[in-house]
Amino acid sequence: MIDLRDLRDDDEDVLFQWRSEPEVDRWMSDAAFPSHEAHAVWFKSLRTDPDMRGWLITRGGEGAGLLTLTGLLSHHRRASWNWFVGTAEARGRGVGRAAQVLGLDRAFCELGLHKVFAEVMADNDAALKAQVATGFRREGYLRGHVLKNGAPRDVVMLGILAPEWSRLRESARRSLTEAKLIAS
Ligand SMILES: CC(C)(COP(=O)(O)OP(=O)(O)OC[C@H]1O[C@@H](n2cnc3c(N)ncnc32)[C@H](O)[C@@H]1OP(=O)(O)O)[C@@H](O)C(=O)NCCC(=O)NCCS
Repeated sequence: MIDLRDLRDDDEDVLFQWRSEPEVDRWMSDAAFPSHEAHAVWFKSLRTDPDMRGWLITRGGEGAGLLTLTGLLSHHRRASWNWFVGTAEARGRGVGRAAQVLGLDRAFCELGLHKVFAEVMADNDAALKAQVATGFRREGYLRGHVLKNGAPRDVVMLGILAPEWSRLRESARRSLTEAKLIAS
C-alpha cells in the first residue's frame, strides 16, 4: 500500500540521498545541487514554515519519495506541487499515481486550496504523463524558463482546480483501492 505521512527528524538523511540521485536531480530546477548544510536548512523549513508542507511517500511502510506543497500562505489559496519517487526500483509501479491522489486530497480536502500547480521541464515525460493522467491540465508552455546547470530549459505549466478534483477523485480512489495501491 502507498501512503503519505508527516516528516520525521530521521527522514533528513534519506531525503538527501534521494535528492542526490541523478534521475531525481536532473529534473530539479534549484540554482545548484544543495550542500548537506543547505539541505538541512531546507528540511527544517519544510517542517516548521507555515508556507510549506511536506509528506514522505511510503510504500509498504517504507519511505519511497517526497511530496511538497509550497506557497500555502498565498491569499490565492493555491500551492506549487513538487515531488519525486526516490529510487529507480520504486518508479513505474504506481507509487506516483497513488501519491498524487493522496496528495491532491490533502491539498483540496484538508488544506482547502483552490488550485494546485506545477512547473515541469518540457522533456520530463514521466512527470507530465503521470500528472495529466491524474487530472492536471496543461496551462502553458514557457520557453527557456529555468536554467539547469546554466542551460535554459523549457517548462510546461500544469494546474488542477478544486472543482475538477472533486469530480475526478472518487473514480481515481476507486481504481487505486481495487489495485490495492491505497487503503479504502
Ligand atoms: C514523476 C514520478 C514522480 C512518477 O512516479 P512513478 O511512481 O514513477 O509513476 P507511476 O508508476 O505511478 O506511473 C504513473 C503514470 O506516469 C507515467 N509514467 C511513469 N513513468 C514513466 C516513464 N518513464 N515514461 C513515460 N511515462 C511514465 C505513465 O502514464 C504512468 O501510468 P501507466 O503506468 O498507467 O502508464 C517519478 O517518475 C519520479 O520521481 N521521477 C523523477 C523525479 C521527477 O521527475 N519529479 C518530478 C519533477 S516535476
